[in-house]
Amino acid sequence: MNHALFLERFQQRFSPAVASQPSPALEDPELRRLFDPCPEVQGMSSPKKLRLLNLAYGLLPPGEAWLEIGTFHGKSLIATLAGQPARPCYACDDFSQFGDHGNTLATLRANLAAHQLADRVNFFHGDFRRCLTEQHVYHPVGGYFFDGPHDYASQYDALRLVEPLLADEALVIVDDWRRADDSGSEAKAASEDWMARSTRRWRTLMELPARYNGDQAMWWNGLGVLWCSKS
Ligand SMILES: C[S@@+](CC[C@H](N)C(=O)[O-])C[C@H]1O[C@@H](n2cnc3c(N)ncnc32)[C@H](O)[C@@H]1O
Repeated sequence: MNHALFLERFQQRFSPAVASQPSPALEDPELRRLFDPCPEVQGMSSPKKLRLLNLAYGLLPPGEAWLEIGTFHGKSLIATLAGQPARPCYACDDFSQFGDHGNTLATLRANLAAHQLADRVNFFHGDFRRCLTEQHVYHPVGGYFFDGPHDYASQYDALRLVEPLLADEALVIVDDWRRADDSGSEAKAASEDWMARSTRRWRTLMELPARYNGDQAMWWNGLGVLWCSKS
C-alpha cells in the first residue's frame, strides 16, 4: 500500500483537531451510532478508529490483502470492509479472552453473515502465531491490523512473524499503543524494539492518542500507525 496516498487521504478525512483532540459529539452514545456501520455489534473500537481502518482497507491495491488479528465479535473487521471493494481478507482469533462477553466463533460468524461478509473473510481459529505463515496467508499483506494480545512477547512476535508476509510496502496499525496501568499494554515498546532490530525499513507514521482505555471520543486506547518497506 502506498503510504504517501494513505497520509494524504488521512489528512483529508481527519483534520488536525479531530486527529489530536476528543470530539465531544462522540461522547454521546446516540450520536456515536451515526458514525458506526454496525452499532449492534459489540466491540472495542471508537468511531475514529473504525473510520481509519475503513480508509486504509479502501486503499489496498488489487492483489494485496488485509489481515486482522483479534476480531472479537467482528466489529473492527465489519467496519474495515464496509462499503469498500473486495480485497483478499484474512482474520484470526483464538477466542481466549472475554468469554464472559460471549466471545465465540459462532458470534463472529453470525455478525459477519448479518453484514453479508461471511464469504469475504478467510478466518483462522487459533493462536495468531500459527496463523502467521504462508500456508494460511497466501496473498501479500498490504494492510495489517493487530488487536490481539499486547503483552511484550506477543506484540514483538506480532511484527516479527508478519514481516515475511508483508507486501513490498505495507501499513501496520497497532492497537493499544498507549502505555498505562488501565491496560498494561506493551504494544509500543515491543513494536519499537522489533522495528529497530528488523532488516527492513520501518517508520512510525502516526501515534493517535487516547485519554484512557476505551476512549470513544478519540482513538480507543491509542493507535500506532506504522509503515514497513522491503527496500
Ligand atoms: C481487544 S479484542 C479485539 C477487539 C476487536 N478488534 C474490536 O475492535 O472489537 C482482542 C481479541 O484478541 C483475541 N486474542 C487474544 N490472544 C490471542 C491469540 N494468542 N491469538 C489470537 N487471538 C487472540 C481475544 O480472544 C480477543 O477476541
